[in-house]
Amino acid sequence: MMDVPSTLLPIGSGGPSARRFTGKACVITGAASGIGRAVALRLAAEGARIAAVDIDLAGATETLSLSNNPEGGFAASVDVRSADSVAKLAAEVEARFGGLDVLVNNAGIEILGSIDETAPEVWDEIMAVNLRGPYLVSRAMLPMLLAPGKQTGTAIVHNASLMGLVSSARLAAYCASKAGVVSLTRSMALDYATRNLRVNCVCPGIIHTPMLERRFAMQPDREAAYRATSLRPPVHYIGHAEDVAAAVAYLASDEARFVTGSALTIDGGVGAA
Ligand SMILES: NC(=O)c1ccc[n+]([C@@H]2O[C@H](COP(=O)([O-])OP(=O)(O)OC[C@H]3O[C@@H](n4cnc5c(N)ncnc54)[C@H](O)[C@@H]3O)[C@@H](O)[C@H]2O)c1
Repeated sequence: MMDVPSTLLPIGSGGPSARRFTGKACVITGAASGIGRAVALRLAAEGARIAAVDIDLAGATETLSLSNNPEGGFAASVDVRSADSVAKLAAEVEARFGGLDVLVNNAGIEILGSIDETAPEVWDEIMAVNLRGPYLVSRAMLPMLLAPGKQTGTAIVHNASLMGLVSSARLAAYCASKAGVVSLTRSMALDYATRNLRVNCVCPGIIHTPMLERRFAMQPDREAAYRATSLRPPVHYIGHAEDVAAAVAYLASDEARFVTGSALTIDGGVGAA
């Protein structure tokens, strides 16, 4: 087992002067924790005004306060399963930012189980957060993302998963929801390709976040589970939320202007095997 080699650049450094989001308005869902928090901090560090939104308002507010531009953004309580909640968010984004440049659909949940272990209510819950959520939030934000007169293009980045491209035992509903997100990415990329809106997704592998810690906590020996998990990626360490944030920032930035409909794996090589 090893951690990220110290010879690598500090995670999230993005180069000392990367300021790719100066003046841009960005919405990040699931921003209270893990990857969503890292994305929000990264975009703000590069000059964005961020809307840090989550069903966990306290966590989203903390993310905003940790960012280097809290006064330029806002935190909001949003349930991505609810069309009403998402409509209120769209109105607040319009009122506060006067438009939108980047949407990161990151909120997600993971519940383990093969389908015989997955009750219909659990199936529906996973689909509601992981697949209906990105659909609802994207749909509500589209009028702003497609608004004419923008200087540069706009972007949506969905947080899918490597589990949207391959599968794993006892993760049936989660994998199905994430495969849906990858498919949704491609459909949306095609639908808006000529309207200056790019749509991509990231497919993280094993990333050290509270979601992964909850999985370790279910094991009898947390340290043994951590060690075994660390050895699974060919690089022999677990990714950090900031590794995903760096990829999201690239896809959301104008540097990726020719990239749409892609599913970018950030997995330390797991998917290559
Ligand atoms: N951690 C990993 O190994 C990993 C790997 C691949 C993909 N992902 C994906 O990355 C995303 C973030 O995961 P994470 O590991 O940071 O998990 P996390 O549990 O730390 O964060 C998820 C966030 O989503 C929020 N959320 C949940 N339901 C919501 C709802 N209905 N409305 C609004 N917000 C809601 C939570 O409150 C939480 O803040 C998820 O979509 C997850 O599936 C994670």
